Amino acid sequence: MSRTVYVNGAYLSEDEATVSIFDRAFLFADGVYEVTAVVDGRLVDFEAHMARLHRSLGEMEMASPISDGEYAAMHRELIDRNDLAEGIVYMQVTRGAADRDFAFPDESKPTLIGFTQVKSLTNSELAKSGVNVVTLPDIRWKRRDIKSTALLAQALTKEVAKQRGAFEGWMVEDGFVTEGTSSSAFIVWDGATIVTRPLSNEILPGVTRRAILRLAENTELEVDERPFSVDEVKAAGEAFLTSASSFVLPVVEIDGVQIGDGKPGPVTEMFRRLYLEEARRG
Ligand code: PDD
Repeated sequence: MSRTVYVNGAYLSEDEATVSIFDRAFLFADGVYEVTAVVDGRLVDFEAHMARLHRSLGEMEMASPISDGEYAAMHRELIDRNDLAEGIVYMQVTRGAADRDFAFPDESKPTLIGFTQVKSLTNSELAKSGVNVVTLPDIRWKRRDIKSTALLAQALTKEVAKQRGAFEGWMVEDGFVTEGTSSSAFIVWDGATIVTRPLSNEILPGVTRRAILRLAENTELEVDERPFSVDEVKAAGEAFLTSASSFVLPVVEIDGVQIGDGKPGPVTEMFRRLYLEEARRG
């Protein structure tokens, strides 16, 4: 069955949806995007995704094509029309179509597209087994805080990780982990402190990361926002990754070295449970 997708105000069958070959996202990756999780047919943490979209648009000097209420309505409409119980909604705003020129066009109409993808989020086998990661150099540009569609470095890095039999690549710069190719990275120290890199231009401000730090405030855990090294991951009691498309997943091995006892740890499991509870509450 073909999905119903959204293109510039219209709901179309995915086979009929098109955008211009001159679209600047196609030619220059000149666009921004968001991925919002859907659980029980409801959007998870949508306000935070909207806030980050506006930040990305602002950093790119792009205007928003529609209002926040219209984004919310578009997301709900896509969920309804595709009967999506669990998965994600992807949306992308680009600078639009114009004759090819590196500098911004004087006038262009933004392109806005959206689509759904079915994905099992709440009942993941990987949450029970944990996942393995490998470390790879961070070869990205210097504005990783913008959620832009320029994802080639992440795609190349994820592919190498996959070829090495890993679920995710943790990217490393100057000896410290920046983040995963499509997720934020955390370690747990002595079962008492969660460590994650502080926000800067070097990483994406993860929406799920933010939720975990907020949830941590109601626990006994300390939060230490600082860069951590690969050796620290190997010596940590637990490690985990977070993203809208995987929520919280235990990381039980890095570069072939077991982390902790090689099983999902209690702190990771607690955060996964708390985050799922919050997602289900809507
Ligand atoms: N990726 N870091 C990077 C580089 C990411 O691409 C993502 C998300 C995250 C986690 O952010 P959030 O918690 O807001 O999803 C961190 C999405 C899921 C994607 O591109 O599919």
